[in-house]
Amino acid sequence: MKKWVLWVGLLLTVTACQTMSKTEPSLYSRIGGKEMLYTISSQTLDKVAADPATKRSFEGVKMATLKQSLADYLCVETGGDCVYEGETMKNSHAESNITTAEFELMVQALRDTLDANNIGTREKNELLKILAPTKRDVVTK
Ligand code: HEM
Repeated sequence: MKKWVLWVGLLLTVTACQTMSKTEPSLYSRIGGKEMLYTISSQTLDKVAADPATKRSFEGVKMATLKQSLADYLCVETGGDCVYEGETMKNSHAESNITTAEFELMVQALRDTLDANNIGTREKNELLKILAPTKRDVVTK
């Protein structure tokens, strides 16, 4: 085999390795994976289910199931290897008559939970940016 072919091969391999090592870890892994997403889901839902301004929607809802479902949803949305088996955002909130004020309180509860768990500013903003468009499906009143 000609020497230059080996050199080109070597160069390509080195370039490929450099490119791969520069690839950013997913938001999912930067946040802390499944366990942290479950913590975030659980603590956020505990807040909104206890807050007099948002609790009405959660009355009679199985919170353990909802916590897992929200954690799975967040996992998929942040690039994790999970399966979300729940409904679309439109279907799961269709009956609840959720207002803009309630939506914003939930986002604030999420923000506080992310801060309390020391999630970085960049990760927090990336997650909030992913979730912001759900407003048009969640808010129906
Ligand atoms: C950041 C925006 C939100 C996201 C990403 C989100 C996500 C979810 C997910 C993944 C589910 C589970 C659906 C299923 O398992 O089929 C769900 C259900 C639910 N969400 Fe949200 N949600 C959001 C905002 C809200 C707000 C603002 C409220 C009320 C204040 C709310 C109340 C509920 C309730 C009550 C359920 C359970 C419905 C049922 O089981 O009948 N959500 N949500």
